[in-house]
Amino acid sequence: MMTTPKTDTTIAHVSLTQPVDTLADQLGRSFAEFGFAVVSDHGIDPALIADAERLSRAFFALPEETKRGYFIEGGGGARGYTPYRTEKAVGHDTTDLKEFWHVGRTLPGGDPLEEFMPANVWPAELPEFRAVFERLYAEFDKAGLRILSAIAIHLGLKPDWFDSTVDQGNSVLRLLHYPPVENAEGAVRAAPHGDINTITLLLGAEEAGLELLSRQGEWIPVSPPPGALAVNIGDMLSRLTNDRLRSTIHRVVNPQGEASRRSRFSMPFFLHFRPDFVIETLPECVDAQHPDQYEPLSSHDFLMQRLREINLTK
Ligand code: OGA
Ligand code: NI
Repeated sequence: MMTTPKTDTTIAHVSLTQPVDTLADQLGRSFAEFGFAVVSDHGIDPALIADAERLSRAFFALPEETKRGYFIEGGGGARGYTPYRTEKAVGHDTTDLKEFWHVGRTLPGGDPLEEFMPANVWPAELPEFRAVFERLYAEFDKAGLRILSAIAIHLGLKPDWFDSTVDQGNSVLRLLHYPPVENAEGAVRAAPHGDINTITLLLGAEEAGLELLSRQGEWIPVSPPPGALAVNIGDMLSRLTNDRLRSTIHRVVNPQGEASRRSRFSMPFFLHFRPDFVIETLPECVDAQHPDQYEPLSSHDFLMQRLREINLTK
């Protein structure tokens, strides 16, 4: 009997409570084809998410002048506030229709990694902000490790292979606000781009607009149910796997009608390797059909290269 190879036509929706081998298989196939998967039962407390969303709205509702007080000149947007229409996607002349706030890792004083990770700033106007976002950061870290463990199994590595590579990683939690769309002048909420980091875990994408570019060149909406994560592969993991896992181009389009008069809020967690982790192609991802395409490069050097390209550092 003839069997046709199974091809996936939709992004996987997986529950993190499944056995890790099942997860590995489902996530692996979705990441290889789409670079994206939707993940529910991720363990991040819904009450914490609700607090984070409330505080994100409260921050962006502050007066422009107050928010600009948290913009760090020359800081590359790494921490604190980055105003509306600052960031550009690689190769685009128009700035995105978004403003954002970055939370990084809080390191113990005197940590040698301080050189790579500037200290956080916190908005004095919102006393709960720090505790809520430090906790959310830690929960994203934990959910990310479980997803990475499934990815490791998919790649034929030990389940804990990634643990040391992301321990004290230079991850960034981004609070995003896309204001109502006016005077767009050809800009979109976020122009097509790939994420720089290892994997991205995104909350808030139930508000429409996120789309991925398929292998066939079609824009496919990514629509997680409320509370679920959209998870995607970043350029660093794509490089480590010799592009076996795809870092997929994605964008956030301007909504039509009523939704264009509404703000969109989202919260991606850009999970990064440790700054001193050297991204060196996995031998498991190299064979005669897939020769090694990349030179070893530290995760910090890779990040600096890419930040220059998106207008965030010189
Ligand atoms: C990003 C991104 C998607 C969204 O910030 O890199 O792709 O839904 N965000 O806000
Ligand atoms: Ni992105």
